[in-house]
Amino acid sequence: MSNLITRTTELAMSVTLTYIKPGDTVVDATCGTGRDTIALARAVGSEGKVYAFDIQKNAHLLTEARLKSHGYSNVHLLMQSFVSMSDHIAERSASAVVFNLGYMPGGDHSITTTADTTLKGLECALRTIRIGGIVTVVMYDGHEAGAEEKQAVLEWAEELDQSKYHVAFVSLLNQKNNPPEILWITKK
Ligand SMILES: C[S@@+](CC[C@H](N)C(=O)[O-])C[C@H]1O[C@@H](n2cnc3c(N)ncnc32)[C@H](O)[C@@H]1O
Repeated sequence: MSNLITRTTELAMSVTLTYIKPGDTVVDATCGTGRDTIALARAVGSEGKVYAFDIQKNAHLLTEARLKSHGYSNVHLLMQSFVSMSDHIAERSASAVVFNLGYMPGGDHSITTTADTTLKGLECALRTIRIGGIVTVVMYDGHEAGAEEKQAVLEWAEELDQSKYHVAFVSLLNQKNNPPEILWITKK
């Protein structure tokens, strides 16, 4: 078993997967290279559905190719912003919504999530998850937009009504070079 505390993105997904069962509907808000999409597609199985968003054509091509090579056909790819989530997925229908913020690994660094749209997307995600569902957010504050975005997301999350949500935040406190951090929100 890998050391999950040293591998933040794996830790984020491992916890998320405990909220998902076969047949569920889930959302990958930022599919990028499709790595998270594959993990979600495997978890929901052939009876389930993954809605995967990204605004980049390249992300769609990479994710499509990855899905094909793994033989998954349970993913609906949308070349749209995650702010349109509520137009495609019914309220309280998903067991998980996953955000991996920032820019695509190995891709164009100028195409990145931003504080303003991310907060709108998170509001959509809270409407989309069912009671007992989870919103997972992996954040990177090593670039300027990411630092601003993290601050906005944490300020927003701290204000969520504790009678409706539980919020947890994980940060590798002694590690240099801005490792990713995780925010989890579950709906009561
Ligand atoms: C860190 S990458 C995601 C990595 C991905 N989860 C993976 O497994 O490879 C962030 C992605 O967010 C996308 N993005 C930026 N703004 C977005 C938006 N408003 N809606 C959806 N995707 C967005 C970028 O194009 C980029 O591919």
